[in-house]
Amino acid sequence: MTPPYKNASLPVSVRLSDLLGRMSLEQKVGQLVQADGRVNAEQQVEAGSAGSFLHILGEKTVALQRLAEASQLGIPLIFGIDAIHGHAFWPGATVFPTQLGLSCSWNPDLLEDMGRVTAKEMLVTGLHWTFSPVLCITRDLRWGRVGETFGEDPYLIGELGKALIKGLQGADIGHPDSVLACAKHYAGYSETVGGRDATEAELSVRKLRTTFLPPFEQAVKAGCKTFMTAYQCIDGVSCFVNRWLLTEVLRDEWGFDGFVVTDWDNLGRAHRQQSLYASIDDAVGEAVRAGNDMIMVTPEFYAAAVAQVRAGTLAIADIDRACARVLRHKFELGLFDHKRYPAVDRIPDVVGCSAHREHLLPAARESLVLLKNANATGQPVLPLGRDVRRIALLGPNADDHVAQLGDWSFGSGQAELATAGHPRNLVVTVRDGLTARALRDGVEVEFAPGCRVGDPDASLVAQAAAIAAVSDVAVVVVGDNLDETGEEKDRMDLDLSGAQLPLLKAIKATGKPLVVVLINSKPLCIPWVAEHADAIVEAFNPGMLGGQAIAECLLGDFNPSGKLTVSFPRNVGQLPVFYQQLPGWHGNKTGTYDASPLYPFGFGLSYTCFDYSDLVLDRTTLCCGEALQGSFTVTNTGPRAGLEVAQLYFNDLYTTLSTPSKLLRRYFRLWLEPGQSQKVTFELGSDELCFLDRDGKPRLEPGVFELMIGPSSADQTLLRARFVVVE
Ligand code: NOJ
Repeated sequence: MTPPYKNASLPVSVRLSDLLGRMSLEQKVGQLVQADGRVNAEQQVEAGSAGSFLHILGEKTVALQRLAEASQLGIPLIFGIDAIHGHAFWPGATVFPTQLGLSCSWNPDLLEDMGRVTAKEMLVTGLHWTFSPVLCITRDLRWGRVGETFGEDPYLIGELGKALIKGLQGADIGHPDSVLACAKHYAGYSETVGGRDATEAELSVRKLRTTFLPPFEQAVKAGCKTFMTAYQCIDGVSCFVNRWLLTEVLRDEWGFDGFVVTDWDNLGRAHRQQSLYASIDDAVGEAVRAGNDMIMVTPEFYAAAVAQVRAGTLAIADIDRACARVLRHKFELGLFDHKRYPAVDRIPDVVGCSAHREHLLPAARESLVLLKNANATGQPVLPLGRDVRRIALLGPNADDHVAQLGDWSFGSGQAELATAGHPRNLVVTVRDGLTARALRDGVEVEFAPGCRVGDPDASLVAQAAAIAAVSDVAVVVVGDNLDETGEEKDRMDLDLSGAQLPLLKAIKATGKPLVVVLINSKPLCIPWVAEHADAIVEAFNPGMLGGQAIAECLLGDFNPSGKLTVSFPRNVGQLPVFYQQLPGWHGNKTGTYDASPLYPFGFGLSYTCFDYSDLVLDRTTLCCGEALQGSFTVTNTGPRAGLEVAQLYFNDLYTTLSTPSKLLRRYFRLWLEPGQSQKVTFELGSDELCFLDRDGKPRLEPGVFELMIGPSSADQTLLRARFVVVE
């Protein structure tokens, strides 16, 4: 007779309790184990010592799943992967701009699209769960993982994170097109001292709750099914054993009902690297009791947990609770009902199909941020005019498809899944894109790399300068590459490495207009470029069709609209440079240096101009529980249609606890034809104007508030209006 847990017509709760009642201690602990699928996977399935694998794909998942189903209870496996900006560890998958790149679009729809496409490509290759989105808040730019984030603003990160979760999980994870999302790294990971990955983070409860937790709370509201712990310690306690974070806040307060996975060997490294436990055994009980439901790649966990339950030092109830959470998701995904076998024969029709690739170009276009567009006499040089007949295309990142795709794709070293990488012909580099696009107008493009990223050898510079000297304009594509970004790749400086700056200087010396395109994982220190280039386009890692989007942008086929979601520093010593800093006693001056960002959060130019006017509020006083309404007008005063991202910030002028002098609360994406004006109305609840007290409780203090509207966070660009909050 079919046991109840195998009967798909019964409710999950009935199936789950039936199954738990049949499981041995070893089988239960096995469900808490996520193992590296590249190492002895078959033996672990046969032994029942792993319930999940990561870093395997395709046919191998099918073989392992069959093996699991043939085991005594036939409990299926769940397969996870880092599909971060597309299912990028599968050759030929649709690889989007990185999270940082896409965030500059301020367009949640693009994130949702990326999630949908990623889920479909994952599913057909056997995966059920992606460790995405990254909801870390960028702080110190030396940190290697800045490019994985949505930038520096908690509100915007929350909005974009929700959209990505929605795209990945769909309306219901039981739907065959849905995968599990994973909000990570919970929490405060990016605040680590000096930008050094996974060191101590100096975070009070108030700071955590004010800045680092809100995007994660939004993820819970969006129904995110899994969370991943952060590696670092807060106040001496490693996040993976922080019961307050993992249980009290996440579950008891926010109502999270998914499951929590540690990061890769969190548990083992707490002993081996962080010197927190004299042995791995010592961390096992604490990890489970704190609220972890699955342990990622700490092979010692399985035997230790079994032994500790037998010895009575780890309660079976703790194991049962975690096991039940994992199994419930396996039921909900339909894994027990054989619903998730990948249709591997359909892989060529699905992965990288034209319907999916159609999303690449809008994503890349909207990611681009025009940082400068004025030559020495203040004239715009972009879009390139009809007088440009010959373009010198120079620079190491103009034709480097690996650097263009960025981290969490082939070459980035986290998973050696395929050495051949993405087929070169699927990626349009700037060289490919500009050559093809310019040809249409009969414009000649000559390419030379000029140097290599990170290599001081300047012997190729002269050749590049010679090409520039006989061209009408030089487009120089510089930035970073995979040696300079990612996990364990924090930087000590943020310079354009190797001979890139000498290359730029040599090109500038030719006297030709200098257009700099940045293909880089994160903001670099580019004061010389900011001063001497005639135009700068920031592309971050723009994905497979990034080169085409860049070419179209340079030639004016579309009007760039991206806005920075992360501030650019003038100097590495200025870090951190994010806009939400607290007002200091010395007015935030840094000696004799200019402490303002080189390019502020929210900044980005257009080929047209936008004028802001008529900020009006519906009241001058606001009581707790009321909503403030208002409006403002944006007019396109320039020559062509364009999209403007208008931003709304507020400031509580005097607070009894320190607060930043500006916080983003809304943004509006406005498409305006030349000469067109649009009146924008908004409403803000008084609860959105609170700051947190020392216990992390929201407080709305009576007093004067200021509302700011404008094209970026830069003070001089904002319209302001005041109102008073009364008791
Ligand atoms: C470690 C990284 O910190 C995390 O982001 C990733 O998901 C896991 N490795 C799995 O690859």
